[in-house]
Amino acid sequence: MNHPVRFGRLGYCRLRCPDLAASTAFYRDLVGLTVARESESEVWLRCSDKPADIVLEAGPEAGLAGIGFELESDLELERALALTDASGLGPQRLGAAELAQRHVAAAFRCADPVTGLAIEFYAGQTATTEPLTGTVAKIAQLGHVVLNVTDLDAAHRFWVERMGFAMSDRVAGLAEWLRAWPNPLHHSLALLQSDRNTLHHINFMVTDIDDIGKAMNRMKAAGVPIVFGPGRHLPSTSIFLYFLDPDGNTAEFSFGMELFEEAGARDPRELEHRADVMDMWGSRPDPRFGKGSPIVPLREVANHG
Ligand SMILES: [Fe+2]
Repeated sequence: MNHPVRFGRLGYCRLRCPDLAASTAFYRDLVGLTVARESESEVWLRCSDKPADIVLEAGPEAGLAGIGFELESDLELERALALTDASGLGPQRLGAAELAQRHVAAAFRCADPVTGLAIEFYAGQTATTEPLTGTVAKIAQLGHVVLNVTDLDAAHRFWVERMGFAMSDRVAGLAEWLRAWPNPLHHSLALLQSDRNTLHHINFMVTDIDDIGKAMNRMKAAGVPIVFGPGRHLPSTSIFLYFLDPDGNTAEFSFGMELFEEAGARDPRELEHRADVMDMWGSRPDPRFGKGSPIVPLREVANHG
């Protein structure tokens, strides 16, 4: 396995929202995130010691406008920068103001070569000690993001062969579940072959199975569409519930996940493309499942906050 750099964790997802107030209310009141910063154009929400797990920015059309990944150290960040530079991705270092906002020592961003998505890599983040005030769910962490991509092979070449993400499982030609090596989570990123580059879903890992059941009833009471589950994924063993945010993006609560050792991990499995791989309990996805907002290419991302 080729692991040229050591990653930390998934940092954040940035969503562009036509109705910032509605999206803020959804992620605060129904998902259970804590508002950390709020302006007319941008809202930062947390479920961890990071300054933001979800960033919502006002925009004319819904979109996925960025994701962030942590590197284990400044040295690893420099290695990652060199890798993206060698790939011709033109990594740009963040300036002092952006570093200060993010409480990080160093960071750069580049465009994902397949989707154009703005990817931010950072290191040396100072933990935020402000209390979390979300009460409706006990969220452990932002778990993973899943992208629909038009060229899965090319995405594999970037994330796995270039950046050293580790494949945990795959459905040949259709799906790959990737670890941000050496992060133990079965996947921090997954890629699905599609005819469009869009967000598939954003996952929040909850600490208690009750959070899945409570979320189901909370979403139903609020008129939020539940588009898949509750069920259990075969690949990751996670129990899941998927529901839609105000822009039709799929969000997921999940409980439990297979964890991998840094060395000696099992080989990736070749899974079949079958409904019971996606849910061992027999629920079936609504047609709206995983049909999230288009990816906003980095060149069109004007405001990084
Ligand atoms: Fe998921």
